[in-house]
Amino acid sequence: MLKGKKILIGITGSIAAYKVIYLVRLLVKSGAEVKVIMTASAKNFVSPLVLETLSKNAVLENLTESSTWANHVALGRWADVFLIAPLSANSLAKIANGICDNLLMAVYLSATCPVVVAPAMDEDMWLHPATKRNIQHAASDGVHFIPIENGELASGLVGEGRMAEPETIVNFLISQFFRGTLLKNKTVLVTAGPTYEPIDPVRFIGNHSSGKMGFAIAEACYLEGANVVLITGPTALYSSFKEIKLVHITTANELLEQCMIEARQAQIIIMNAAVADYTPLKKETQKIKKGKNESEWLLPLVKTIDILALLGKQKTAHQYIMGFALETEQELKNSLEKLNVKKIDSIVLNSLNDAQAGFGYDTNQITIISKNGRTEKMALKSKTELAKDIVLYISEELDA
Ligand code: CTP
Repeated sequence: MLKGKKILIGITGSIAAYKVIYLVRLLVKSGAEVKVIMTASAKNFVSPLVLETLSKNAVLENLTESSTWANHVALGRWADVFLIAPLSANSLAKIANGICDNLLMAVYLSATCPVVVAPAMDEDMWLHPATKRNIQHAASDGVHFIPIENGELASGLVGEGRMAEPETIVNFLISQFFRGTLLKNKTVLVTAGPTYEPIDPVRFIGNHSSGKMGFAIAEACYLEGANVVLITGPTALYSSFKEIKLVHITTANELLEQCMIEARQAQIIIMNAAVADYTPLKKETQKIKKGKNESEWLLPLVKTIDILALLGKQKTAHQYIMGFALETEQELKNSLEKLNVKKIDSIVLNSLNDAQAGFGYDTNQITIISKNGRTEKMALKSKTELAKDIVLYISEELDA
């Protein structure tokens, strides 16, 4: 998403400037071209040499440097985005009032690209009416603010005022300016993770699904311009893209209910959740005690509704539905059967026989088969990369 993008970073005087070292590294690693401007006081917090080395570009501070003149207009026009991070209370006040007393401010005033700021200051300064007024002025001039975070501050106090973390800043830039368009204006429903079927207040029937593949798919869809709803079973995961609507469920029945609600608006449905096929006939309200004489415990189970098959049955002409098939034997035959029986558009075969693939791993190996017979076997890759392949596959299917 950031490959070839030109990011101009302005650093002002704040202890949070140390985080920019990692930020520059993240941006460069993602393929962005980075140039850095610092104010004189920023140099008290971080060395220009480090930033110069990481960005592979000279760090600029002054409008004139010995016999050369830093062309602030050209810098503002070069950039796809001008990011000021950290933004101190002092520089915020200058931005709000158009004060031009250094190179950074000259670039700000002449920038034709979007300007994004990541403020950092102590809580009392952040909450001061003058700061609030300055934020309002700057925002009404079109400056984009990355929300400030709560936590331990340089003063030793705890509260609001921390600059957003570098990963959050990168995600903000991608979300606001650099999303792709493969699924633009499409609403996508993704399901992820396991379901837990309660036996009693203590025990449940679950499975090993980590949710990683489903989360990666939801993020890949979002990064290609889609509106995404992600319904997830119990996992330890979260998405750093707050724009993805996250719906938490526990049981297969709750997943069914939420799918029926969310599927109405969805043009694309990707059913990645590992849904329990059976659930206890009865959920006991008290913990089931160990029998004194019984050496076996037989637990009556009932079949859950096959959500994917139901969605396939209700599918409208404008919907595209992709399912997953987790197989341990006769993989192709079994997944083709699921594709046909559930009346869906494509199925992703996931074989537990492939090394480094499936539950818990960060990598996976999949084959995608469409109802028209198009079959694509992907190499062993990270789940993030495979999620991009899945999005590309679906977008090509929609265009075909
Ligand atoms: N699925 C579903 N509802 C269920 C069971 C499965 O929607 N009650 C969906 C899964 O999300 C997946 C697809 O059906 O997209 C296939 O799931 P899988 O577990 O591979 O197969 P099953 O249909 O459950 O059949 P089996 O367990 O016999 O392989």
